[in-house]
Amino acid sequence: MSIAVTPYDAADPAAIDEAHRIAFAATAADEPDFPNQTRDEFAAYAANPMPGYVLVRALGRLDGVAAGHLELRLPQLDNTDNASVTLAVHPEHRRRGVGRALLAYAVEVAREHGRKRLFGDTVVALPGGPARPEAGGAFAAAAGAHAALTEIRRRLDVAAVDHAVLDALLAAAREGATGYRVVGWPGPVPEEHVADVARLESRMNTDAPIGDLELEAENIDAGRIRAVEEVLEARGRRHYHYGAVHEATGRLVAWTMLDVSSRSPWHAWQQTTIVDPDHRGHRLGLLVKIENLRYAMAHEPELRAVDTWNAAVNEHMIAINEQLGFRPVDGWTDWQLTI
Ligand SMILES: CC(C)(COP(=O)(O)OP(=O)(O)OC[C@H]1O[C@@H](n2cnc3c(N)ncnc32)[C@H](O)[C@@H]1OP(=O)(O)O)[C@@H](O)C(=O)NCCC(=O)NCCS
Repeated sequence: MSIAVTPYDAADPAAIDEAHRIAFAATAADEPDFPNQTRDEFAAYAANPMPGYVLVRALGRLDGVAAGHLELRLPQLDNTDNASVTLAVHPEHRRRGVGRALLAYAVEVAREHGRKRLFGDTVVALPGGPARPEAGGAFAAAAGAHAALTEIRRRLDVAAVDHAVLDALLAAAREGATGYRVVGWPGPVPEEHVADVARLESRMNTDAPIGDLELEAENIDAGRIRAVEEVLEARGRRHYHYGAVHEATGRLVAWTMLDVSSRSPWHAWQQTTIVDPDHRGHRLGLLVKIENLRYAMAHEPELRAVDTWNAAVNEHMIAINEQLGFRPVDGWTDWQLTI
């Protein structure tokens, strides 16, 4: 049995076919309730990486057959000691060393780029929750990685949203938010708010609990926000935002975003929600999340599910999500491997 790791280019359609086949089968086996990517969507993601990253992609072949897939992301504008991986082996080809070979390749390339650590995440079943494979966690532990942060994924069943509850929450949030006005927009950030969105997004890595993960704040300016918007467009994503403006200063001080696939419009990812530390305690987080959920529901009639991840210890954010109706589905471990 021979194992070979071969890097490939996102513009190589045959390699994309093979990579997509593996990623699709792995998602179906490991996270069956995720929207699975079509071949075109997978290709659009590969061809349009997020700005500020160099990506390295590779296939792991078992006796010539493409069996595993690696995406290694190397941040260029911040976190330049770090790299992260997405690694998947086709369920039919597991436990034959392909994952180990792909990880060894990722470590080698990351070292060549001067990186000191690798990040990756794996799913785990919650007590009473749906079954999840244990392979990912066992693999990461066997590789010598450290479980640095525990996260919980919660899902909102959109059909079960209790609008009377949301109305009451919204009324209470508005009472707490005197001196602020809300603003919502679909797609690109209005020019007047883009600098504030960049400032808020830069804090995300270090404001939310990150456990033992050695992350730096991201270096995000208005140009990077615009570049991200272009990538989202090219990937076929639609996004909905709500923010709160502090009326005395005109600054956007709270912001949240939901991100919907045009190919799977039944599903949204909850992206960043953040309130400027100087403006916490005014229920702005709850306010913008409820407004944005309703905004996205109004624009996306097929929307059935929203997924959100929180550090297990992020009590404030979790309390808001539970009030909206989000419920735990599975656990996620963020691993850090010193290289
Ligand atoms: C995790 C994953 C990539 C492993 O790929 P793989 O090719 O099966 O892994 P390998 O055969 O190289 O296994 C290497 C070691 O990991 C551990 N391991 C892997 N799968 C395991 C399992 N199901 N149970 C226990 N240990 C396991 C073992 O120590 C194994 O060494 P051994 O076979 O000599 O005992 C694969 O199961 C997968 O794609 N899972 C879903 C995605 C994921 O979790 N990715 C990890 C991101 S960090």
